[in-house]
Amino acid sequence: MNAQSAFAVEARELVKRYGDLTAVDHINFTVNHGEAFGMLGPNGAGKSTTMRMIYCRTPLTAGTLLVDGLDVTQQARQIKTRVGVVPQENNLDPDLDVRENLLVYARYFGIKKAEAEQRTQETLELVALTEKQQVSVEELSGGMKRRLMIARALLNRPHILILDEPTTGLDPHVRHALWDMLRELRTRGITVLLSTHYMDEAEKLCDRLLIINDGKILVSGTPRELIATHASAFALEVRGCNGHQLLQPATNHIIADKRGSTHFYFAPSSELLAPLIQAYEGCETYLRPSNLEDVFLQLTDKDRLH
Ligand SMILES: Nc1ncnc2c1ncn2[C@@H]1O[C@H](COP(=O)(O)OP(=O)(O)OP(=O)(O)O)[C@@H](O)[C@H]1O
Ligand SMILES: [Mg+2]
Repeated sequence: MNAQSAFAVEARELVKRYGDLTAVDHINFTVNHGEAFGMLGPNGAGKSTTMRMIYCRTPLTAGTLLVDGLDVTQQARQIKTRVGVVPQENNLDPDLDVRENLLVYARYFGIKKAEAEQRTQETLELVALTEKQQVSVEELSGGMKRRLMIARALLNRPHILILDEPTTGLDPHVRHALWDMLRELRTRGITVLLSTHYMDEAEKLCDRLLIINDGKILVSGTPRELIATHASAFALEVRGCNGHQLLQPATNHIIADKRGSTHFYFAPSSELLAPLIQAYEGCETYLRPSNLEDVFLQLTDKDRLH
């Protein structure tokens, strides 16, 4: 941590334009040192673009962006030594084996040979790939490649680890293993900044998060705050109700919503939803606590999600 910097990341009126397209539109947010911070949003929302500006891969158009107190427009070289990056697409060297991928990368950072060897073994152990170190990258499964990408991002002992959709396409076991690994990294004081489409991932991993759409921040806060503020405590899902009209609840404490052929009702107590369960007799009804997905779907453009 930079003793002088108040935040791990500080974005003020941050803008990124590609020609006529405004991919990131005057966003403001801060990430505290040592926290896990999530960015959620539909495809094309501006998550990767924001991350690429943070790790100095793409220049910003306007605004201010500080990483560990350093200005991305002037101190990119110092910032790059402090951040570890796992981009959305794997970009491992297919001609090298697992161990060599790490050693070559360590060389980019000017880490001396003996030290590079030691860090390679340490990080391989952390991501449980020690046994695979002599295997060609092409022979790794998707989950193993993701783990190797994380190992590579940790070689320079970053203060801030940036992960763009770290678990997309991975099976549930591997996702859980990765979550455990990220929690372990946090106990070492590393700030974790991640983007994800998985609401459960955001809920389980992130201290705070923001939901972004069309380059603008819709809401930010802790997962609990967002659920409490933007979705009532209980959700009733009704499936298989083709032909049924969305019922207009008798009380304005209930929010009614339709996504595809599924009807949703949100209420602060489960008792309020009981009459609706009766009204939908013969349909499949599920009463459950609201989750971040409810917040996300209510806030983002629903048409694009179907
Ligand atoms: N290099 C580029 N040149 C032109 N437009 C771009 C470029 N990179 C991204 N964009 C556009 O900027 C917008 C935001 O893209 P971005 O990749 O940041 O979205 P995202 O939130 O990461 O989406 P996803 O969930 O699909 O990864 C999109 O409209 C995209 O087409
Ligand atoms: Mg992306």
